[in-house]
Amino acid sequence: MEELYGHRKRIDRAQAETGRQMVSTQRRLTSVVSYPERGEGGNNHYRGNCSPRLVEALIRFFRPKEICDYMCGSGTTKAAAECCGIGSHIYDLHSGFDLLHNEIPERLEMIFWHPPYWDMVVYSDVMYKASDVQEKYGYDPRVSDLSRIPDWDGFVKAMNHAMLKQFSALEKGGRIAVLMGDIKKKGRLYSMLSEITKPGTMENILIKTQHNCVSDRTAYSGRFIPILHEYVLIVRKDEPLVVPVILSQRGGMDIRDMEDASWKDIVAAVLESCQKAVPLTYLYEQIRPYKRAQNSRWWKEKIRQTLQYHPSQFVRVEQGMWTLKKSAAGY
Ligand SMILES: C[S@@+](CC[C@H](N)C(=O)[O-])C[C@H]1O[C@@H](n2cnc3c(N)ncnc32)[C@H](O)[C@@H]1O
Repeated sequence: MEELYGHRKRIDRAQAETGRQMVSTQRRLTSVVSYPERGEGGNNHYRGNCSPRLVEALIRFFRPKEICDYMCGSGTTKAAAECCGIGSHIYDLHSGFDLLHNEIPERLEMIFWHPPYWDMVVYSDVMYKASDVQEKYGYDPRVSDLSRIPDWDGFVKAMNHAMLKQFSALEKGGRIAVLMGDIKKKGRLYSMLSEITKPGTMENILIKTQHNCVSDRTAYSGRFIPILHEYVLIVRKDEPLVVPVILSQRGGMDIRDMEDASWKDIVAAVLESCQKAVPLTYLYEQIRPYKRAQNSRWWKEKIRQTLQYHPSQFVRVEQGMWTLKKSAAGY
């Protein structure tokens, strides 16, 4: 493990010189990046490893003097930094550093962060033995491993703690580039990009196409859309004290309280929640306690008017009994 993941090594002079030449010649970066050939550096057997070419492209573009990676996995960032002739500081849970609970030692200008994609690949005790880490560093890595957090909300909370912690450790003008992906489970998208806290100035979102992933070889049926891309979010710290921040928040909203919904939407939603035709009085009961009725003196009239005005959607099956026409989608 030492050989693969050891912290700083001396940069080979010749390699550094080649790196410097490349830095000066290849500074182009576009919003879609693709590396069908992974490139050399890190370990492609370490599951969830990334292409060093991405990290190299970021280094060449932003030209930091050094780069940090606090979840370095197989050490791809170190290899990329060496190739570009800059220094690196790399850490991981497997080699004595827990980003959730340890203090970040550096204060510098660029962090590359490639967190686990929730539980898509489990790291501790799969990619490395928990007992080895326990013996060497005195903690059980499974406790703080982001890939072992059982629920999505818990994962998002830990991810956002790690994001703000790293952002706080940047110097003014510094950047953090986060490589992350979305996860699809049982018809729901768990989007790291949507739910990650975005502190500072959002500078770019790059789309990185994925290659050689399991989904390439899998035949999917039905309405499943395989995910073939990841994202690189780049945020910059422009001010040391007060920074803008985009926080995501999930919650529930009742359509009957929503100003943006029309009366047609509300009446349709109530009917859609019923198995069979219902009387007008039921619609009144279902809408009365909510903002839409409370804010309108003529709310009962409005319900009746809505039912009459949209014969293509609302059907009167008998006197005073209403139902919704089924949509073609037939959900
Ligand atoms: C997606 S991998 C990084 C792969 C790396 N970019 C590469 O190319 O090999 C995520 C890493 O996060 C590490 N990790 C998970 N939770 C951590 C924590 N709390 N502190 C530090 N590292 C953690 C895992 O051990 C794993 O190596």
